[in-house]
Amino acid sequence: MIKKIGVLTSGGDAPGMNAAIRGIVITGIKLGIEIFGIKDGFLGLYKNKIKKLNRIIVSDIINKGGTFLGSSRFPEFKEKKNRYIAVKNLKKKNIDSLIVIGGDGSYIGAQKLNEMGISCISIPSTIDNDVSGTDYTIGYYTALETIVKSIDKIRDTSASHKRISLVEIMGRNCGDLTLLSSIAGGCEFLVIPENKISKEQLLIEILKKIKNGKKHYIIVITENLYDIKSLAKYIEKKTNKETRATILGHVQRGGTPVVYDRVLASRMGSYAIEILKKGFSGRCIGIKNEKIVHNSIKKSLNCIKKNSTHYWLNLSKKLF
Ligand code: F6P
Repeated sequence: MIKKIGVLTSGGDAPGMNAAIRGIVITGIKLGIEIFGIKDGFLGLYKNKIKKLNRIIVSDIINKGGTFLGSSRFPEFKEKKNRYIAVKNLKKKNIDSLIVIGGDGSYIGAQKLNEMGISCISIPSTIDNDVSGTDYTIGYYTALETIVKSIDKIRDTSASHKRISLVEIMGRNCGDLTLLSSIAGGCEFLVIPENKISKEQLLIEILKKIKNGKKHYIIVITENLYDIKSLAKYIEKKTNKETRATILGHVQRGGTPVVYDRVLASRMGSYAIEILKKGFSGRCIGIKNEKIVHNSIKKSLNCIKKNSTHYWLNLSKKLF
């Protein structure tokens, strides 16, 4: 019988993490379970920053971006001796179950702790939408809204000056944010990791557009593919058209979560308690065709995210 559950947020924060914590706390308390918040992700677990949460603490957070528990990147958690300290900290408080909210890096930590006897459930939360076992991650739709609003603003100035505008978008190695924002932002071209092209090929595509008579262009590009500032200089030199680069950066991670993320996070938070109570562990929650599901964390970590990149890529090409 589960009496105490810990919860932490880990890796890059994402809008909706607070709503997930709230869902966990409210559902847990209703079932007579004590919920403990761990500050700053796995680092806080290692440093024993564990505090009991209550209904009041999670009031007025559903609409807040970021994570009130704090987050961190703590690569040292890969070392068994550090995880051993974390497990000891949980055991001292008689907490033997943990809900980890984060991306695939956080899944690895959860799986390792699960193997050390802590029942872990992970909830996918990252703006990148790059976690397998789920159609969407918490935070993805909010980030898309932020990105598309920014593209709309860039469009005003790009059109006024008849420029080529390169916009760099987050996503690490996943093109989902770039893909969907290219469609919603009405962009002229995109480059994503799943379909990377050289700067020479990109130039050919831009020259085709210029030939077709278009006066200005917005091209969205996933981070880590080029040095976007020098790419802008190259394009400007070769096309003789003013070119500017904008790196959207961390604005994409903040802001009020959209309704979809709040609802998704609340469903997943509540469901995490439900399946822990039923005796499941080592599971990650997902949403598949709008139904909440759970899969093995280990299996999810070993398989590449099956997503609809091809569908979106084909659609975006029809719309350029
Ligand atoms: O995983 C979310 C994310 O925002 C990625 O899109 C990006 O590559 C990375 O985190 C940036 O991490 P940090 O904030 O640690 O620099």
